[in-house]
Amino acid sequence: MKEFAGKLAFITGGASGAGFGQAQIFSEAGMKVVIADVRQDHLDNAAAYFKEKGAPVHFIKLDVMDRKGWADAADETERVFGTTPDLFIQTAGVNAFGPIEASTFEDFDWVVGVNFNGVVNGMVTFVPRMIKAGKGGHIVTTVSLGALSSNPGVGPYSAAKAATLSLMECYYLALKPYGIAVSAMLPANIRSNINDGVLKTRPEHLKNTGYYVSEETQEFSYATMQAYGIEPRELAERLKKSLEDDIFLIVPYPSGTRIVERAISRLPLYTTVEGMKELEERKKLPPTEEDKRIFLETQNYEMGTVVPPKSRQEVGYGMAKKDVDWVDEKKRFNK
Ligand SMILES: NC(=O)c1ccc[n+]([C@@H]2O[C@H](COP(=O)([O-])OP(=O)(O)OC[C@H]3O[C@@H](n4cnc5c(N)ncnc54)[C@H](O)[C@@H]3O)[C@@H](O)[C@H]2O)c1
Repeated sequence: MKEFAGKLAFITGGASGAGFGQAQIFSEAGMKVVIADVRQDHLDNAAAYFKEKGAPVHFIKLDVMDRKGWADAADETERVFGTTPDLFIQTAGVNAFGPIEASTFEDFDWVVGVNFNGVVNGMVTFVPRMIKAGKGGHIVTTVSLGALSSNPGVGPYSAAKAATLSLMECYYLALKPYGIAVSAMLPANIRSNINDGVLKTRPEHLKNTGYYVSEETQEFSYATMQAYGIEPRELAERLKKSLEDDIFLIVPYPSGTRIVERAISRLPLYTTVEGMKELEERKKLPPTEEDKRIFLETQNYEMGTVVPPKSRQEVGYGMAKKDVDWVDEKKRFNK
């Protein structure tokens, strides 16, 4: 996608973090924008921002898990702007940290429900409309580098993001003949409000979790991760450049290609006895210069410089809920 001015963008999760950065950058590029988000407070803040700018931005309260809501949002978009989106960005997402072996059905239903099923709902809603409109376009999903790494401390998230990446590649291959480009963006940490989600966005009927969660765990997560991630506006600038270049797999860092190679290099090793031994050996090695460089590129802070006032264990961050008595902390992280 090379021309943005005058065209229409529809952005899920567009009222906070990465999505809000995207809304700002594409609005500044002259696009009309629809922001669809489940959080009314986020929508209100974004609305105040764009009102001051006098930009053509329309706001829709949408839970991406709600299929009827999607159809209504698509109809409303056509009513307000008279057309389907040219740029359809799915950035709404949530995360929850805890051992995969402690996960409940509700942990899966919420995390996979938003991050994967939500994207499916968006594609099934908008792809036919975009094809029928016959004007091409670009569809982007904000996935995560987590899609490549199978992290058992965020199992439902890793699985959902891996599935989403595969989904987007299928659509990339299928939609090319219709003149609709598809991209998947895989960021590392982003300076955002994603930690809030567990306490503020998780629906009542999916509240039953196997993970230990408190204000303190979410503050710990923010202090050690999100506070140091890439700025949403910067991430959106990099996304825009990659859309101009028609890149499918957007890993928005200077070492992007190498990051992917390293992340998937484990897969061939899993296929042989020797390879599996090598994987065990790799875990014992100290960080290489390349590890340190990539960490700095993606996490935006020096390895080991963040010292939170309390340790992960004291706070209980990423641990199982107290009454989950089959998870042994000492057996986690391959100790
Ligand atoms: N924060 C990170 O470090 C990080 C890293 C890699 C990928 N990501 C991905 O980036 C995307 C954006 O996350 P963020 O970090 O900017 O978080 P954020 O919480 O700041 O923004 C996400 C937005 O999505 C909205 N949302 C959540 N559930 C929704 C639902 N069911 N329906 C509609 N909207 C919903 C939230 O209200 C919020 O406004 C997510 O897909 C996330 O998985 C985040």
